Amino acid sequence: MHKIAIALGLTGFLAVIAVVPATLAQQRPTVDAAKVDAAIQAAFPTFPTAASDWTPRLAPDETMKQCVANDNLPPKAVGDAIMAREKATIQYPTDGKLVGDWKKGETLAQSGFGLRFTDYPARDRPNGGNCYACHQLTKTEVSYGTIGPSLLAYGKIRNFGEAETKAAYEKIYNPHASYPCSLMPRLGNNKVLTIEQIKDAVALLMSPDSPVNQ
Ligand code: HEC
Repeated sequence: MHKIAIALGLTGFLAVIAVVPATLAQQRPTVDAAKVDAAIQAAFPTFPTAASDWTPRLAPDETMKQCVANDNLPPKAVGDAIMAREKATIQYPTDGKLVGDWKKGETLAQSGFGLRFTDYPARDRPNGGNCYACHQLTKTEVSYGTIGPSLLAYGKIRNFGEAETKAAYEKIYNPHASYPCSLMPRLGNNKVLTIEQIKDAVALLMSPDSPVNQ
């Protein structure tokens, strides 16, 4: 039995395909972090810096480092520390109201605008949350991704509860606060969405009359 392992070669970014025995393939591959960093830096030669400086995002923060080091399944103590640290970043609306306008929420859930090279420098529209890229949300939209769980009837099956509404706000603001190595982007934390937009996304999930709950 042989397994195919793919190793990233630095020179010319050639992917080198090596065939190694199964016993070796089961061991954790050694990754040269400096080579990976160099490849990533070189892959973004025209990184937009004028409208919004993304350069710091190329360097993994503490949470990303810990998730990578633990294959996204950190030991409990590390996971707890990640969740505590990420939870501390969450900012709440000053008026305490967590539910906005579901119609605006549906628009931003459909929109993948923002953070693409072609969206800069002219920013004529607000960023989107791109929720449908990963989630099913409504019966009417048939094109959706499945990286995240289906959010159909999200509020209804949670009885539109207050605690669940707060949890939805926190999940959208910073998913790592409740799931240490979530694959969902930190939309509030990374300033992809504003607090008002997050409220609109919460409304989409938690309003009885929104298409999510019909
Ligand atoms: C890149 C993929 C991706 C995008 C984009 C994304 N999510 Fe997620 N989402 C996930 C994954 C994966 C999970 C499961 C892990 C977790 O709970 O953090 C999740 C979990 C959730 C949950 C918790 C589900 C539960 O069962 O409790 C909610 C609520 C949610 N997402 C809402 C949203 C909304 C609203 C948007 C858009 C503003 C969005 N997500 C954008 C991937 C994504």
